[in-house]
Amino acid sequence: LTEPYLAGRSVLVTAGPTREYLDPVRFLSNRSSGKMGYALAAAAAEAGAEVTLISGPVTLEPPPGVQRVQVESAQQMCDATLTRVVGMDIFVACAAVADYRPTRQAAQKIKKGSQGLTLELERTPDTLEQIGKLADKPFMVGFAAETEHLEINGRHKLNSKGLDMIAANWIKQGRGFEVDDNALTVLWHGGKVELPMAPKIQLARGLIKLIAEHHHAKDSA
Ligand code: C5P
Repeated sequence: LTEPYLAGRSVLVTAGPTREYLDPVRFLSNRSSGKMGYALAAAAAEAGAEVTLISGPVTLEPPPGVQRVQVESAQQMCDATLTRVVGMDIFVACAAVADYRPTRQAAQKIKKGSQGLTLELERTPDTLEQIGKLADKPFMVGFAAETEHLEINGRHKLNSKGLDMIAANWIKQGRGFEVDDNALTVLWHGGKVELPMAPKIQLARGLIKLIAEHHHAKDSA
């Protein structure tokens, strides 16, 4: 049984992909099963926290005791998160949010012609970055899925998004996406730890313990 590291604490987790619609039937999305985010929500609840999970479209059931809010687009994820983050102790951004969306969303299904189709895309809001700008921000944990320079890119995001901690993982060699096992390099200012390859629920428990320790140290500093 997990110890109640987070008793009395509130934790907000984002998980899963987002969908950015071109028209009522077509969207841009990305490879994310939501497994890591759901495992983190489950581990935080096991550790005694009050957990809210903001989730993009996935096929997973919400973990016991976790309050789930379902969203589809990056904009909805950002709005739902900004509404609920007030007063939260810890924010963990595990969602694989789409970085771009179609500039225009057609009200009716786009009819195919004989020519090709060019899509114009614009940036979506970055939820984590926006929370990082709040005056009263929670303890912030981000994720970085990288195909190269894991620690350099992870440290860059740690600094640029104003995070307390970042969990970086490789997405090459069939790792990271959709699979049940993963490995994480957890970075913070002045330190790091490797969480070796393990089932996502076990990794999530390890990460939640680290988050609790660092949040506690910051809280009592
Ligand atoms: O996409 P990127 O590599 O910058 O993602 C790093 C972190 O930022 C992740 O924790 C992800 O959940 C978060 N993020 C976000 N909103 C976005 C893009 C990324 O919250 N639009």
